[in-house]
Amino acid sequence: MQFQSLPGFREFYPDACARRNHIFGQWKQVARAFNFQEYDAPVLEPLELYIEKSGEEIVGQLFNFEDRGGRTVALRPEMTPSLARLIGAKANSLKRPIKWFNIGEHYRYEKPQKGRLRAFYQFNVDIFGESGPAADAELIALLVQALRTFGLDSKDFKVRLSDRDLWLLMLAAEGLDEAGSATVLGIIDKLERTERPKAIEQLYKVLGDGAEGFLGRVEQAIAIRDFDTLSEFILSLPLEGDLATQAKQRLKDWHALLGGIKSAGAADFIQIDLGIVRGLAYYTGFVFEAFEASGEGRALAGGGRYDALVNKLGGPEMPAVGFAMGDVTLVDLLESKKLLSTYVESPDFIAIIGGAEARDAAMSDAALLRSMGYRVDYPLKDQGFGKQFKDANQKGARFALIYGSEEIEKGVVKVRDFASGVEQEFLRNQLVELTPELVSNGLQECRP
Ligand code: HAM
Repeated sequence: MQFQSLPGFREFYPDACARRNHIFGQWKQVARAFNFQEYDAPVLEPLELYIEKSGEEIVGQLFNFEDRGGRTVALRPEMTPSLARLIGAKANSLKRPIKWFNIGEHYRYEKPQKGRLRAFYQFNVDIFGESGPAADAELIALLVQALRTFGLDSKDFKVRLSDRDLWLLMLAAEGLDEAGSATVLGIIDKLERTERPKAIEQLYKVLGDGAEGFLGRVEQAIAIRDFDTLSEFILSLPLEGDLATQAKQRLKDWHALLGGIKSAGAADFIQIDLGIVRGLAYYTGFVFEAFEASGEGRALAGGGRYDALVNKLGGPEMPAVGFAMGDVTLVDLLESKKLLSTYVESPDFIAIIGGAEARDAAMSDAALLRSMGYRVDYPLKDQGFGKQFKDANQKGARFALIYGSEEIEKGVVKVRDFASGVEQEFLRNQLVELTPELVSNGLQECRP
């Protein structure tokens, strides 16, 4: 019987693994450039960590089971609750702002489809200990840079920016309480994928006859694309006293955030879009999602502020903002734009071996070059020269190290540079000395 992998789980053959390493490498480099530190957390967590904290949508997708000790556990569907616990436990000794990142696999029992699998990688980037919009701007700038490093530009993707605080103010102006607001935000989150009559029916349950008029005002808000229109809209809401003051302060935060994004050179990549509310339960302020510019396909990344989560998980009060980018939609987009190539590394040297004595010499030189950090290979069984050269070429080797009986007698190895076709003899006892220069410059044709 031929076994198959589970639906939604990927196998990575070396070429796919090399491509994955390329993506992780780019992510790490960007995190480093922004001075974030890497951390890690368990893959298996107590189930309760996700109940309530992550919200219904994720809880319905958990890989959960009872372990042999009778504990209810779940494979992590996301990193944020684990991270909030790590931060909470050491909050007092960590220097703020805390800027951390992780690259790891996550698991959600979703229906496998384009852009959605059951096991996928996320690049999580978060800042703790800073409540002002400078932290949100820093993360959005990092998100933009992380996508740009792959060669994507503002024609290819957009970060859609929204704000749960503004939504709560708008919903307060509609007379909704906290519970009503939470239900309505859930409906707004799915509006893009819901038929209008169905949305009205859902809203009717909270708002009664006012549902259709309300939906009209929501659609007006969602259509806003610039800050001036947004300000006008918010200032025209029927808000009084404290709520009116909050609305004005919030517009100042927006102004600061957009200013920060502009200074960081990321303004072209941002689109105001209140249609983004984010399905996860813990978000509290600015929220954002990156999408292919056409608006097609699932999100490339998503995140936002979650100022209450560390405290909810038993830690102190700690402002937080972060996002996660997934590898599945990213690779789909990069492939469609032809921005991925082949990443399998080729050897620096392949030894071409003629006979038993030559094999001893080749193996001993290979050991030396390998210890110097070069990528070296040789055939594991005796073969004719022709076949060996053909294999070396196919493996994309840069140099052949040729060990024939003549070379062995003279204590030399003949080096062939596959790029130029030039061959030169090297004394074997000088390999340590000569190889760095050989690898940097290659063997050139002698010009008269
Ligand atoms: P999320 O929006 O659930 O946010 O996921 C972030 C990204 O992970 C998505 O935009 C998508 O690229 C990828 N992703 C999610 N589910 C799947 C799936 N089933 N298959 C493939 N890719 C997927 C979070 O997870 C938050 N914890 C992000 C965050 C970090 N918020 C604050 N800090």
